[in-house]
Amino acid sequence: MTQILIEKISSSDLKEIFTKYSCNKIFLVTGKSSYRHSGAKDFIESAIEGIEYVQFSEFEQNPKFDDAIRGVEIYKQSNCDMIIAIGGGSVMDMAKLINVFSSNSHIDSLEIVQNPKLISNKGKTLVAIPTTAGTGSEATHFAVVYHNKKKYSVAHDFIMPDIVGLNSIFSFSQSKYLTACSGLDALSQAIESYWSVGATNESKNYAKEAIQLLIQYLEECVISPNVKSRDAVIHAAYLAGKAINISKTTAAHAISYAFTTYFSIPHGHAVFLTLPEFFEYNKVLLKKDMNDPRGLNYNKKNIEELCKLLQVKNETEGKLFLKEYAEKIEVELSFSKLGIKDFENLIVRNVNIERLSNNPRNVSEKELIEILKSKKV
Ligand SMILES: [Fe+2]
Repeated sequence: MTQILIEKISSSDLKEIFTKYSCNKIFLVTGKSSYRHSGAKDFIESAIEGIEYVQFSEFEQNPKFDDAIRGVEIYKQSNCDMIIAIGGGSVMDMAKLINVFSSNSHIDSLEIVQNPKLISNKGKTLVAIPTTAGTGSEATHFAVVYHNKKKYSVAHDFIMPDIVGLNSIFSFSQSKYLTACSGLDALSQAIESYWSVGATNESKNYAKEAIQLLIQYLEECVISPNVKSRDAVIHAAYLAGKAINISKTTAAHAISYAFTTYFSIPHGHAVFLTLPEFFEYNKVLLKKDMNDPRGLNYNKKNIEELCKLLQVKNETEGKLFLKEYAEKIEVELSFSKLGIKDFENLIVRNVNIERLSNNPRNVSEKELIEILKSKKV
């Protein structure tokens, strides 16, 4: 499916979309207070004038299955013919879930979560407008959902938003810390995508451009934001989303979810806790440790290219560069300072095996514990 991208989306762009798609009623998925604070509410209200809409915002961060089902019920009664998701990653995911569950209502939604291949119908036109620059969810064909505390990633081509509208004006209300967290999520996604077993030339081109933009603009975007740096970072996050849409993420994401669930560390921060360590670890020296069939030379070239992008000499310098980068944008990486303790078993038990197998270097349980322990010193 070809996705339409509208840079610097305006209210009149949105009005044109309504006309082009003969839209009569809109199902609007938004956050709660962030919808107002980000300026998204004013933006939507000026575009939507004269068109009926139903808004759904009563759901928690990190979408829960039961919340999505409530959304589906409201959606079904609404007779809407287009869905607009305007907000952060959770808003995007929730809109994707509601769209796919309701258009495949002949299948039990929980069965779809467990086996997304059952999806047979494409839903209504979905317009995704991210207000935070990070997850890249607007560019992916998967949606995260939690059921009984377990995280699922529902993946299918029909989940991908049809239209993406980017505009950095919505991200100015984000705090310094959350801007840093979402930027680090994008940077992690781009780096992980680059070395991922699932990487292709296409995904690597997206990832490369995202890394270059983030290294150049993220610090400025966090410390002294302006339109140029905000625009660059929101575009980079979109590119990183396009990259992982092809390659998926790897080890730093695979082990991050427990830091969020059990220690309430925001996603981007949780991923970056171990990304520097994996930057060094992922230089593979022995063929037996290699997950990627393209071999040791391919891996060596990847790490060299990533070092070049970070402007460092080798993987150890790369690790230090990433740690210092986090420090510059005031993101703490020390487990003890973050109050993360007695975590080894918790992390190992909750690791996402599929994402871990996408890591270029095999990570055994013993090696994972060693990486985590090295963070203590
Ligand atoms: Fe992420």
